[in-house]
Amino acid sequence: MLDLANLPDGFHENPFPHYDALLADAPVCPQPDGSFILSKHADLNAIYRDTTTYLSDKKDVFAPKFGLNSPLFEHHTTSLVFNDPPLHTRVRRIMTAALTPKALARLEPGLIRTVDELLDAMPQDADIIEDFASSIPIQIIGNLLDIPMADRTPLRDWSLAILGALEPVLTPEQLTTGHGAVREFKTYLQGLVAHRTAHPGDPETDVLTRLIQGDTEGKLSEIELIQNCIFILNAGHETTTNLIGNALALLHDHPQEREKLAQDQSLVAPAVEEVLRVASPNQFGNRETVKPVTFRGVQIPAGANLHLCIGAANRDPEAFDNPDKFDVTRSSNRHLAFAAGPHVCVGLTLARMEGKIAVARFLKRYPAYSLRGARTAGGRIRFRGYANLPVHLT
Ligand code: HEM
Repeated sequence: MLDLANLPDGFHENPFPHYDALLADAPVCPQPDGSFILSKHADLNAIYRDTTTYLSDKKDVFAPKFGLNSPLFEHHTTSLVFNDPPLHTRVRRIMTAALTPKALARLEPGLIRTVDELLDAMPQDADIIEDFASSIPIQIIGNLLDIPMADRTPLRDWSLAILGALEPVLTPEQLTTGHGAVREFKTYLQGLVAHRTAHPGDPETDVLTRLIQGDTEGKLSEIELIQNCIFILNAGHETTTNLIGNALALLHDHPQEREKLAQDQSLVAPAVEEVLRVASPNQFGNRETVKPVTFRGVQIPAGANLHLCIGAANRDPEAFDNPDKFDVTRSSNRHLAFAAGPHVCVGLTLARMEGKIAVARFLKRYPAYSLRGARTAGGRIRFRGYANLPVHLT
């Protein structure tokens, strides 16, 4: 059965036969290090919603991995995703209040402009990831926090280095680059926050101003503010790049579905949901058990690390008809790509908006695009996407 520390050949390119085997034969799959992979939709849904039995805090895992109080340790243990109440509740309340419908609506014209400018600039032989998908989220989250245009170049590399450090196995180089990225990102944001504190924007539409000001129940500390701004930038970057890249790869590989979308652009919303289900940008989540639990007859002790395989749960035949079929008209698509419960993705509205606008405008401009040459898998277990997607545009 699947061992995450010792992956079979070809796993990154096509993990789905391995997920099918998990679902059929080992839906609660013990790992040699004492952790477990869970893959059933119903089990993940229940775990995500029960924050008393399953914790997000990972200080005990991150201390030996990153070094106690190291830059990566400080970042990942302060960001809301790896915290439980009370810190999680406080940061999430302030963050969701800052992402007002008005703040998100303000981003839409800039998003359309960014997408169209990228489409205009793409050469006939282009790379969907390098020349299109990866530039969109960085600009949109840059706009969200009003980061000056001239400062945006290093954001992508910082983000990749910090999230890359969450992979199960790290090289010393990856660790050093990850620590360096947190240090540089922090220094940059300290300057930005000082400037915005001195020159606040409108808290109804300016997310950073709202995050700095907090709410009636209090403010975030400087470290909480900086580390969670880094988290917003990271959380919305690689995931959304992968959503757009995976969508255009899937539509290429399924010409009939692409044709349906070309004929009826109102299908773009269910098509994006279907991409999120079939090729979830975030393939694995994690939780730790507080007490012993039993799933499907398998006993899991307290303190066990659970790998929640979203990529498998989204193809569970007990949750979806014809789960391996990519169907842009699928209705009632209750996928777990954004997780569920109290930690459900804060940025899901923004991610969906980016996905729909990028895919619809790309297809309208280049309806007969074709992939040329080999595509390169992203090479991550947690994140599913392509490093390169060479394309011929017509
Ligand atoms: C397709 C794109 C995206 C996917 C697939 C995705 C997926 C997820 C998932 C699965 C989680 C739950 C993590 C867990 O609890 O284990 C999550 C949390 C989160 N996401 Fe996203 N995300 C996406 C885009 C975004 C964007 C654009 C933003 C920022 C604007 C964002 C901000 C967050 C934040 C702040 C959390 C932490 C929520 C919490 O712990 O309460 N995400 N996301």
